[in-house]
Amino acid sequence: MCGIVAYIGKKEAFPIVVKGLKRLEYRGYDSAGVALLHGDQLNVYKKAGKVSVMEEFALGQDVAGHAGIGHTRWATHGEPSDVNAHPHTSMDGKIALIHNGIIENYDVLKRELQNQGYIFKSETDTEVIVHLVDYISKKEHVWFGEALRLALSQVHGAYAIVAISKEYPNRLVAARKSSPLVVGIGAEGDFYLASDATPIVEYTKKVVYLDDEEIAVIDLEEGLKLYNIADQERTPFFQQLEMELEALEKGGYEHFMLKEIHEQPRSIHDCFRGRLNAEEAWVNLGGLRDYEQKMITANRLIIVACGTSWHAGLVGEYLIEDLARINVEVEYASEFRYRNPILNENDVVIAISQSGETADTLAALELAKSKGATILGICNVVGSSISRLTDGGSYTHAGPEIGVASTKAFTAQVTVLTLMALSLAHKKGTISETHFRTLLAELEAIPEKVKQVLETDALIEQIAAEYKDASNALYLGRGSSFPVALEGALKLKEISYIHAEGYPAAEMKHGPIALIDENMPIFVIATQGNSYEKVVSNIQEVKARKGKVIAVVTEGDIQVREMADHVIEIPETNEFLVPLLATIPFQLLSYHIAVMRGCNVDQPRNLAKSVTVE
Ligand code: F6R
Repeated sequence: MCGIVAYIGKKEAFPIVVKGLKRLEYRGYDSAGVALLHGDQLNVYKKAGKVSVMEEFALGQDVAGHAGIGHTRWATHGEPSDVNAHPHTSMDGKIALIHNGIIENYDVLKRELQNQGYIFKSETDTEVIVHLVDYISKKEHVWFGEALRLALSQVHGAYAIVAISKEYPNRLVAARKSSPLVVGIGAEGDFYLASDATPIVEYTKKVVYLDDEEIAVIDLEEGLKLYNIADQERTPFFQQLEMELEALEKGGYEHFMLKEIHEQPRSIHDCFRGRLNAEEAWVNLGGLRDYEQKMITANRLIIVACGTSWHAGLVGEYLIEDLARINVEVEYASEFRYRNPILNENDVVIAISQSGETADTLAALELAKSKGATILGICNVVGSSISRLTDGGSYTHAGPEIGVASTKAFTAQVTVLTLMALSLAHKKGTISETHFRTLLAELEAIPEKVKQVLETDALIEQIAAEYKDASNALYLGRGSSFPVALEGALKLKEISYIHAEGYPAAEMKHGPIALIDENMPIFVIATQGNSYEKVVSNIQEVKARKGKVIAVVTEGDIQVREMADHVIEIPETNEFLVPLLATIPFQLLSYHIAVMRGCNVDQPRNLAKSVTVE
């Protein structure tokens, strides 16, 4: 949450920082600001609202300068306003600082600084850091970078910080703990800093991801140096970005979300490419190979995740338990970490996270690690905190997901979990060779089938037009389609602000059935499989109460078509793989409803893509 961008070098900083902020706007978009060093001036422009509002405000004023820092905010302490927007500056106007994270002891520090005569302009926790840096630098007679290092030993919480000072126009200082920060090394002796690599990739592919409690000092003459909090120098680990710039553009689509929905045939294929071969009957997740025996003999596998990733985890539970006969539990990371869970070295904890930065998921893993469990990760963002903390894991290779509502990341997570279930089952001998081969071949065919589902878009748009004014909706599914129902409901509520709930279809009569009337759309996954007849009965129960049924069915279905108000057909596939197809119509439906309701699809209100606060 919150996006950070900074630049120092020979180019003009403002356009680079503003462009970078726009790329990071998915991390938070309630206010934005920049600070630019121009000669002996430190110019700060900040505004509530989108980056473009701040940009317009700054243009026409002095936006020159070769060093600059910028921030797009997702408010935690203090409402979104011009004053609470970052950067925050020291009282003498010499130091400017941006921050992503939360300073837990800001109240105590604030009172101490107020006693020293510091006057606070904002309600943010961040302002405490800039005043503390200023206080230490004056008291200890040290430069602002050293003062920041000393200040950090007094600060509790999470941070990614970048600071500049007009007394050191050739320097930029950054620090990180639990909030991500990447340094890009430009070809012209210039440097880029950002919360993730998306603002950097168009300038350079050579990057260093800061580690926890690491401080980066960038000096235009001396280059990049890294230190730990104890001031010991560290050797930077340079990496090459694999990301391509086109992946960060809308590519002709009206919204990132729509582009990402349509990318799924490719992203699912990229996810299993090189990892399975149906003809030769093998599956291989390289990053998990060393841990598979441990997973097979573990007490249990515990999947920890949040939101959409948690839904993918629930699909994984069905797959792994059924195919590999291994005990799996799926936990909300935020609950798990505070529950004093019983864990030991015989447990394997698997985190699922698109961003790889979700604070609760990260903390759940740290807890599991401290108890001796093996920790594994399924992440999309390469080099993210979770991927670096875990013992092993698999990347989903879905490519950058910019739309705040997760779509292609979900199907890629489910694909990895399917591969994992198949690999474990095969090694453990709980799947017959024929079934194994069939499932591999079916998985290989999924991208083509996703394409076919995407072709139903026009029908889905018509259905969306009919239900766009609903104030409530129910999503029902059984077995591994139950998490698809949960995911469908989450997609609808988060981008169109229609209240929606996902339920196991059979649970409906234990309460939610009371909500059903002729205005209530009920979206049901009623594909062929073990529970088909049961779901058909559930549909009848809804129809008896005059609810409107929109059913996702297997191609050629007749029975449900006769009962439902609308049907959306998906190609036939093995029951285990239905979630990969059945989720697509719900993504499209939510998208169209949100567009018709005039909602900001890619940046829904109050949300942010990377939830780095607890
Ligand atoms: C919903 C959505 C969120 C995320 C959740 C976890 O569309 O995107 O619910 O799934 O915030 O994020 P990650 O996967 O980055 O840990």
